[in-house]
Amino acid sequence: MSDKATFTLDGKNYEYPVITGTENEKAVDISKLRAQSGFVTFDEGYKNTGCTVSNITFLDGEKGILRYRGYGIEDLAEKATFTEVSYLLLYGELPTAKQLKDFEDNLTQHTLVHENLMKVFEVFPSGSHPMGQLMTLISGLSSFYPDSLNPNKSPEQVNLTIIRLLAKMPTICAMIQKKGKGHPLVYPQNKHDYVTNFLRMTFGNVTDDYAPDPVVIDAMNKLLILHADHEQNCSTATVRIVGSSHANLYASIGAGVAALWGPRHGGANQEVLEMLEHIQTIDKGDVKKVVAEAKDKKRLLFGFGHRVYKNFDPRATIIKKSCDNVLAKLGVNDPLLDIAKQLEEVALTDPYFIERKLYPNVDFYSGIIYKALGFPTPMFTVLFALGRLPGWISQWKEMREKNEDIGRPRQIYNGPGLRPFVGITDRK
Ligand code: SDX
Repeated sequence: MSDKATFTLDGKNYEYPVITGTENEKAVDISKLRAQSGFVTFDEGYKNTGCTVSNITFLDGEKGILRYRGYGIEDLAEKATFTEVSYLLLYGELPTAKQLKDFEDNLTQHTLVHENLMKVFEVFPSGSHPMGQLMTLISGLSSFYPDSLNPNKSPEQVNLTIIRLLAKMPTICAMIQKKGKGHPLVYPQNKHDYVTNFLRMTFGNVTDDYAPDPVVIDAMNKLLILHADHEQNCSTATVRIVGSSHANLYASIGAGVAALWGPRHGGANQEVLEMLEHIQTIDKGDVKKVVAEAKDKKRLLFGFGHRVYKNFDPRATIIKKSCDNVLAKLGVNDPLLDIAKQLEEVALTDPYFIERKLYPNVDFYSGIIYKALGFPTPMFTVLFALGRLPGWISQWKEMREKNEDIGRPRQIYNGPGLRPFVGITDRK
């Protein structure tokens, strides 16, 4: 295979280098195309555009492979904790026992948030969406840490900002759920690990001791690991592009939260559960009708389809299995799980879904587990963000360390040509 690609444009030949990744993916480096030929490439939705060379996450959508730093997602979900995976994503290697202890000790030193940040809740109307709150609170951290505003200061400063954000995220997510219920906040306790602390702050109460069920801790670790990174998805690409302007980490991640919120991305996990409830109550469990309406484009089947996975989403396979386990261990019998399985079966045997390669994605079964664990539906996308945080930060850190150029796509303009200005009295 040639390491050059030749384009013929307006009768002239141009040669561009071919870049090959470690797993043999190939790309044509067209960065000089416009300067040399006057052409830009056109690719709405960046379906076919590589925007970086990254060594964090490998994904093969045809084969259903997902790896963080070379480790298979199946192994990580089964054998690692979320903090181990966070370390792996951030620093490139699995930590030794000492490195993990130091990392976790460091995180526990930064779990509290400034008391004034909590006052922000007072201005939110009751019932405001948790993702809107999360976005505001994360971006708001930049006001409390002015030393983080310049991401070029020093690697030590950047690392402190990273640790602060990772450490405070569970506290902020738990605060959002507590405030939503009108309950007093439960503060972090340094003797607990990351996930236990999060569950304590979320489900514990100031009036009682609370120890989360090991089944719940295990399920939470798994879910967070499965969400931890997914190369250049919409929110991660957003974090990178915002960070490429040298915006600080809190601002960049706040933008990532905004992108994740959309129902075509992370917001789909909330939509899936609401859709299943709708099928149960309004559609009276008639999944065939629902699938027929999806084929007629009258409704979207949330939790189905993926830009990159065209065979199966390996995360969905793991989540489906653990969904059965968790519900059985917790003694929960949720009829929504039966509806979800029926829907999957009907959809996967239908030519419309087969031809378009539409399979359940990561969001399809996760909501059923979150519900069984006791999370309110509007919190589901916040949980996605909690899991995705180390991935967003790692991608931001990689981009900054390589000092990547500012992200600035081109466009093809097709509006009006130059027109003479018309005074207001002459306009029709
Ligand atoms: C995530 O990118 C990532 O990595 C994201 C993510 C991550 O970890 O970061 O994996 C997390 O965002 C998962 C996806 C969650 N979203 C949903 O579950 C919402 C439902 N899915 C769709 O909106 C859609 O499948 C997308 C947005 C996920 C992917 O969109 P694409 O690649 O642009 O595909 P498309 O919309 O162009 O669809 C192709 C065809 C169309 O039909 P035709 O025009 O060819 O007739 O498939 C149809 C679509 O109408 N289609 C669906 C469908 N999804 C696509 N039809 C019914 N139900 C669906 N869910």
